[in-house]
Amino acid sequence: MAKYKPWMVCCFTLLFLICAVTLVCVFIASLVDSGCPSGSFKHAAVSADSQRCSEIGRNILQQGGSAVDGAIAALLCTSVVNPQSMGIGGGSIFTIRNKAGNVKVYNFRETVPQSFKTDLLNDCPTTFRLTTGSQWIGVPGELRGYEAVHKQYGKLPWAKLFEPTIRLARGGIPMPQYLGNILHFHIVKDHVEKSSLCEVLCNKNRTVLSKGDILKFPKLAETMEIIAKQGADAFYSGKIGQDLIQDIKAAGGNLKMEDLKSFQVRVEDAWTVSLGNTRMHIPPPPAGGALLAFFLGLMKGFPLTPNSLDGDQKIQTYHHFIEAAKFANGQRRSICDPVFNNRKSADHLIDPAFIDRIRGMIFSNRTHDNSYYNVKPSSDQVGTTHVSVLDEDGLAVSATSTINQIFGGAIYSPRTGIILNNELSDFCGRGGTMRAGEQPPSSMSPVILESKSGGLLVIGGSGGSLITSAVAMSIMNYLWLGMNLKDAIAEPLVFVDSRNNVNFEHGFNESVKVGLRALGHKDGDWPYFLNVVNGVEKENGCIVAVSDSRKMGMSAGY
Ligand SMILES: *[C@@H]1O[C@H](CO)[C@@H](O)[C@H](O)[C@H]1NC(C)=O
Ligand SMILES: *[C@@H]1O[C@H](CO)[C@@H](O)[C@H](O)[C@H]1NC(C)=O
Ligand SMILES: *[C@@H]1O[C@H](CO)[C@@H](O)[C@H](O)[C@H]1NC(C)=O
Repeated sequence: MAKYKPWMVCCFTLLFLICAVTLVCVFIASLVDSGCPSGSFKHAAVSADSQRCSEIGRNILQQGGSAVDGAIAALLCTSVVNPQSMGIGGGSIFTIRNKAGNVKVYNFRETVPQSFKTDLLNDCPTTFRLTTGSQWIGVPGELRGYEAVHKQYGKLPWAKLFEPTIRLARGGIPMPQYLGNILHFHIVKDHVEKSSLCEVLCNKNRTVLSKGDILKFPKLAETMEIIAKQGADAFYSGKIGQDLIQDIKAAGGNLKMEDLKSFQVRVEDAWTVSLGNTRMHIPPPPAGGALLAFFLGLMKGFPLTPNSLDGDQKIQTYHHFIEAAKFANGQRRSICDPVFNNRKSADHLIDPAFIDRIRGMIFSNRTHDNSYYNVKPSSDQVGTTHVSVLDEDGLAVSATSTINQIFGGAIYSPRTGIILNNELSDFCGRGGTMRAGEQPPSSMSPVILESKSGGLLVIGGSGGSLITSAVAMSIMNYLWLGMNLKDAIAEPLVFVDSRNNVNFEHGFNESVKVGLRALGHKDGDWPYFLNVVNGVEKENGCIVAVSDSRKMGMSAGY
């Protein structure tokens, strides 16, 4: 047997040492890389309404797409998985923060067409109902908006963003559980079965689809394929647009090709407000950002700490929240399209002096009549979707998208597979007028918050009238009451309706309810807690993404 020479032993020892050191290094590197707690992500994440759409957004990011690419892909998917909430027949507001910290708002909400029913607002409901019919259709902005944000921030080819959804729409998907539930709500079932929507959402017996059925949108798949190939112009000046206008005309509507051709995306700087150590970037009017900022500005000054939920302090905290909501209701009419109205109509909502003055009008021991808050009772609305995305490069997108109410006004275009919005009903209970080209006021408030320490929170919500209070409560819980993002969003909501009645979501603390009634608050009878908040936060290099479980959502990231 050959004896090892001393120099060989030396060599082996050295090799062994090198190997050991390398292994330790690799191990430490892997520890550092997975240094984020389980359930959080290191690189990027998407919080959409559904797991399927969050995953489609995530896949787009992993293929090298930007947060904007991911948001568009997730929203296109949502138009198939939650077609009641949004689609290419609607409009959106995107709040986008780049790595350098500049925040832009792309507003492509629907506008009033050139020709419209001049006395339309006389038809506004005075109590909650779904407004149906083609007279409520606004000029859809969705695809012009995607085109604009993609041009500015997109990294993957336009067509790539449509591919996953075209596959779903054509091949079909098992009825998503949430949609299946919604379709069987009494008012929605009626809404769908009596309308042209039944072509895609009913079985042969003209009964809404159920769990176990396959949901398919073959016409929409064709339309998306053409738009993927030819771009948004196919919709705004091409064959798709012509087909859509023909269908709207057949349904009694007024939209013209000229309306589509002249649609313009509005790009502006976000408004920025201070919430203590945090700055919040909000979309300006006619979006609902200023109302949200006003609400949170009132709450910030109480001030709140995690102890504010202890014992009887909890009643005080929610009393203040309800009072803030009542004043916010009284200010709803300040939100309107600045291009067509007083450009400064909402400026006071972010003015600290005004906020302090209103806070001084909140009593700890009582509530007041509607006139105290300047509330004129109107009716509330439901609908919409939100997606929050954060990518590896630090681009953040907060996007709220809608066709307004559930399935819009129940107008389906058979030639294109597109479901039309009923956005003009957003003028109801707000101003008294509408003009061609004007954007209706909105509660939509996709926002981005950044803390002094570099933390980011990308958040927004859906649920029509519930948006402002649902997003305000989530942010309040997260910033000041010591909750993590998941708990902040899951906490049962108290919603003050547009008559200033107080409505408690299922699970709201019973003894607090009793305490609030003793302060004079009146219970409402709002049955539709369709408030949904989706958020993504980044703190110390780790990303937590939460999709609201109320809509059975699930986020995705890597
Ligand atoms: C349609 O209705 C008939 C009679 O009620 C029933 O037997 C059949 O199963 C229904 N079909 C579907 C697809 O629901
Ligand atoms: C409800 O709130 C009260 C007052 O803060 C608290 O003592 C009680 O434990 C809460 N109940 C539940 C079920 O959380
Ligand atoms: C409520 O508080 C105000 C001052 O904050 C006080 O003037 C008033 O007397 C109180 N009312 C009741 C019923 O305690």
